Amino acid sequence: MRRNSRSRFTRSRTLGNNEKRRKRSIFATRKVDPLLSTEELPQMRIAGQLAAGVLEMIGPHVEPGVSTEALDALCHEYIIDEIGCTPAPLGYRSSPQQTPFPKSICTSVNHVICHGIPSEKKLKSGDIVNIDVTVIKDGYHGDTSKMFMVGKPSPHAERLVKVTQECLYRGIGAVRPGACLGDIGHAIQRHAESNRYSVVREFCGHGIGRVFHGEPQVLHYGRPGEGVELVEGMTFTIEPMINLGKPSARLLPDGWTAVTRDRKLSAQWEHTILVTADGVEVLTLRKEEGSAI
Ligand code: MF3
Ligand code: CO
Ligand code: CO
Repeated sequence: MRRNSRSRFTRSRTLGNNEKRRKRSIFATRKVDPLLSTEELPQMRIAGQLAAGVLEMIGPHVEPGVSTEALDALCHEYIIDEIGCTPAPLGYRSSPQQTPFPKSICTSVNHVICHGIPSEKKLKSGDIVNIDVTVIKDGYHGDTSKMFMVGKPSPHAERLVKVTQECLYRGIGAVRPGACLGDIGHAIQRHAESNRYSVVREFCGHGIGRVFHGEPQVLHYGRPGEGVELVEGMTFTIEPMINLGKPSARLLPDGWTAVTRDRKLSAQWEHTILVTADGVEVLTLRKEEGSAI
């Protein structure tokens, strides 16, 4: 999601320690998003697994010569007819001024960072593409994305894709009650930058549940020990966007597509996670990932 500087979380980072502690505990005891009740967790698991299944379904179709619009049509039909869900992106807007997103999935090719709009343009061998799926099942959201390599990717594209997935896994690895959002961001940033890549700042992960984009904002960079403390029962996404070149993003005139300013490659992977008593549960885990995380 697009970072919002008016967020409670962003503001709380500039408060003093006592105020910070107070905000944290108010946040931690809220009975609405991002902390769902225990009875709602099975529904989040279902939504997460259904979203993961869409990525598994679409994989074999991501080939040279297929348009991203065709991939959107396949996902749209599958989401509605096969799994009885609503595609959350279709018609979505984060503010009344924004133009509604016109398609059911996001397809972000090569130097597109995120929120690429499916079009008649065909994928070609060597492209890398992120497919981002969000489904709503009985009011609950599951949000996940992965990179696909089309035909034969170049070694530098392949490496960016691999390291970005590792960034997601390291972020997930930092999740446990008592840790904080800064620990997640730091783990991601450290891995990206030690590989001489950069972390996109303009977009972040987000609380998720009955809402698509809720609090907290989950930044993909940060300092250990800073930010909101993680509490058992929280559900949010981690979705690092990592650039081969400089971190800066530019928004295209369509109001959605974010691209790298230097037009170099960008990659992204996303999971929806739950903070558990002893660590983390990846709600959108796919079979292919097994116990990789
Ligand atoms: N799925 C994206 C995310 O991870 C949001 C897409 S909003 C859309 O937060 F409208 F562009 F689809
Ligand atoms: Co998301
Ligand atoms: Co997403």
